[in-house]
Amino acid sequence: MTAPAYDSDFWENLWAKTLRDQADAVARRPPNQFLVSEATSLTPGRALDAGCGHGAESLWLAAHGWRVTAVDFSTAALDHARATARYLGEEIASRIDFVQGDLGSWVPEAGAFGLVVSLYVHVAGAMEEMVRHLAGAVAPGGTLLLVGHQPVDPATGAPTRAAGQQQVSLQAARTVLDPGDWTLLVAEERVRSTGSGVDAVIRARRSGG
Ligand SMILES: C[S@@+](CC[C@H](N)C(=O)[O-])C[C@H]1O[C@@H](n2cnc3c(N)ncnc32)[C@H](O)[C@@H]1O
Repeated sequence: MTAPAYDSDFWENLWAKTLRDQADAVARRPPNQFLVSEATSLTPGRALDAGCGHGAESLWLAAHGWRVTAVDFSTAALDHARATARYLGEEIASRIDFVQGDLGSWVPEAGAFGLVVSLYVHVAGAMEEMVRHLAGAVAPGGTLLLVGHQPVDPATGAPTRAAGQQQVSLQAARTVLDPGDWTLLVAEERVRSTGSGVDAVIRARRSGG
């Protein structure tokens, strides 16, 4: 069987179907466990949620005082996220700027964000390139938080449901993040508390600030 391309058509179709068939379940999805554990102690400022999907993490950030730029290329996902933000009220909705963009070509404002988050985004091109773009958007003293499903279960060596996908890995983060400019505070594989599988979790602090 040919692997999906994970391009904008793939994601648009997947989100349209998921939101049509399981809108209530999507609306009940909690914010990502690693975002909550890693970002709760940070001082709110500007945040970028790259590949925001249905928006649970952008909404959580906005509810915790962040001004969020939430980027995705799926119209269906962005419409859903916008509607949820409006439902939660003007205070939260006004803190999120939803942007339709392709992370392969959309380059965030350099050094502008106190927190850059990207969770489970599979890219069509080289992962190192996307990490480089995202890292460049972090302000001095700011935080980069990346999480990616791992294609192979490190305990068994068996392929996971993310096999064949290009998601962030510890190796990609170590390759891109120059130790002269970045402190890797977390770089480890962690078992997810929901569903199954193992994620690479990377939290890095940019020097300065
Ligand atoms: C697995 S979902 C994760 C969504 C959300 N971050 C989460 O953790 O629930 C991946 C998301 O990335 C988006 N995405 C994938 N590639 C992208 C790209 N090149 N540009 C913009 N968005 C992209 C998809 O539309 C989808 O919403």
